[in-house]
Amino acid sequence: MLVNGKSYKTIWLDGSGKIKTVDQNLIPFKFRIISLKSSDDIANAIKKMTLRGAPIIGVAAAFGVYLSVKEGIKKAYSGRKLDNYVIKKSEKILKTRPTAINLKYAINRSLVAYNSEQEPDKKLEAVLKNAISISKEEELASYKIGQYGLKIIEDLYKRKKYKQINILTHCNAGWLACIDYGTALAPIYFAKEKGIKMHVWVEETRPRNQGAKLTAWELFHNNIPHTIITDNAGGFIIQKGLVDLVIVGSDRTTIKGDVCNKIGTYKTALAAYDNKIPFYVALPVSSLDIKIKDALNEIPIEEREEDEVKYITGYYNGIKKILISSPKSKAKNFGFDITPSRLVTALITDRGIIKPDIKQIKKIL
Ligand code: MRU
Repeated sequence: MLVNGKSYKTIWLDGSGKIKTVDQNLIPFKFRIISLKSSDDIANAIKKMTLRGAPIIGVAAAFGVYLSVKEGIKKAYSGRKLDNYVIKKSEKILKTRPTAINLKYAINRSLVAYNSEQEPDKKLEAVLKNAISISKEEELASYKIGQYGLKIIEDLYKRKKYKQINILTHCNAGWLACIDYGTALAPIYFAKEKGIKMHVWVEETRPRNQGAKLTAWELFHNNIPHTIITDNAGGFIIQKGLVDLVIVGSDRTTIKGDVCNKIGTYKTALAAYDNKIPFYVALPVSSLDIKIKDALNEIPIEEREEDEVKYITGYYNGIKKILISSPKSKAKNFGFDITPSRLVTALITDRGIIKPDIKQIKKIL
């Protein structure tokens, strides 16, 4: 995607063996590429949300396992000692964020690659190859989601007699959350290339404001008209007929089509359903968790620090954190919620557009 007219991916391995990524905590105030040099750097970056979004944290985790094997070899570990080191570091990465299934999926796949070889150097080669494959697969998945989703926007554009399409989105399910294109934003980027007139309502997404900071920044750099609204305004804007469709991403979607995504998604889905506005969820197959049957009780919902609710981070002569609530009051910070499949019009996946039900989900697996 474009930043100041230059094309970037969000994560890659550079010539010196370091993992490079965009520091998402600085956006929209600064665009800085940083280096992650160790498996601990990867774990810290995921934990602190230096990089965030389901697909990219999966890819980062796979690179983290690669770095852990490299570290173990440098310490002259082999056999059981190397295995224990790699498992310990993989578990550390896995514990950083519990909700997005991509993290677990990528670590499991990395350990299968690791165990597929006997010699340390071969193991290193295998985990690196695996990390690069997951990255390429995610990039391709986003591209395909974009192409399938484009069809929905094109059809609606025709039905609206080529009048501007108004799309509402929540959180950031764009390029930054993926390797390129995004999930929810990918159809929007492809529709823009087709010359479709669009406007995007961006829910700010408290407490970390991924919408106001990241999605708005991405759309700005790709010349897509957009407006930031408070999370509380989404329902009203939908009621007023100012939204043609909603597209969001997902951190984990169950075999029944229930969707776990950034906190606030459920309320937006309710408003869309009540007003008969289509509500789409865009996700790669890597975000499906076919083992989960009861989303509300089985998906681990991340709870982050109170401070993210009580303070806000913004820009005033530098990036500053300021208190915005009663200092001695408690706060609770749930990261994700569950949107039941009955509120979801369809899932836009990299294997096609499907209804959110067991039969159709099983068909694409
Ligand atoms: O807490 P975050 O910012 O990692 O949450 C991200 C989301 O909820 C996204 O909507 C989701 O990961 C889909 S991203 C393609």
